[in-house]
Amino acid sequence: MSSPRPQRLVFFTGAGMSAESGVPTFRGKGGIWKEYDYERYACQPAFETNPEAVWEFHNYRRQLVSACAPHDGHRVIRAAEQQLEHVTVVTQNIDGMHQLAGSEAVLELHGSLWRLRCEACGATHEGRESPLSSLTCDCGAYWRPAIVWFGDALDTATIQASAEAIGQCDCLVSIGTSAVVYPAAQLPLLAERNGARLIEINPEPTPMSDAYHEHMRGPASEMLAQLAARWDIEL
Ligand code: OAD
Repeated sequence: MSSPRPQRLVFFTGAGMSAESGVPTFRGKGGIWKEYDYERYACQPAFETNPEAVWEFHNYRRQLVSACAPHDGHRVIRAAEQQLEHVTVVTQNIDGMHQLAGSEAVLELHGSLWRLRCEACGATHEGRESPLSSLTCDCGAYWRPAIVWFGDALDTATIQASAEAIGQCDCLVSIGTSAVVYPAAQLPLLAERNGARLIEINPEPTPMSDAYHEHMRGPASEMLAQLAARWDIEL
């Protein structure tokens, strides 16, 4: 049976959203941080000490993600974006999978695996070349992945736009996040101020589960298919 569609909907996604695409999550079984020490591969001091090692890790991730494709859950989100008035995707993911599925209104809280910046001359570069053939910018300095690493601050404009979309929504659907990384983890709570309905999609409970009105305990693709049916979203 269908229910009224949200007027302003936010999808708030984490690594579990991409799990069915074959992208490993960060925590839990097979999690990236179980295998790789972020202090060696994913923080500014590591980049300054050993950029080659940091790049080896990021090139490995670029290749891994290149071999993955969006799944039906990403397509539900894309279809919602096309068929509902106001839909925003706020993601912690850096894999670009929502964009690959066609989503346009995507706010990337933690940056992107596919964007680079040069901290010496300010140049930027975007592309899905995997592995990256030249690790250096024309000026000779190493490219730096435009990712929010451990210890980095989030981009102010992105966090403001995310807070605004969440603060104004009447429904927020959180999908596949362990809700342990701040400040991202607390952003969904801004939706409460507006009296929005909070739905959590995750096979497991999280430290934020109590803040949600509805828990859909299953994989993203199946649970999003249920929401598509509930809101009469055509696929
Ligand atoms: P985590 O790896 O911490 O959590 C993934 C969550 O997805 C867990 O709660 C799982 O239960 C859930 N999950 C697994 N498979 C799922 C499926 N098929 N459908 C739905 N949910 C599923 O990932 P994040 O919460 O995204 O930061 O991690 C937050 C940040 O920590 C990441 O953005 C990353 C990491 O360090 C950066 O890369 C900067």
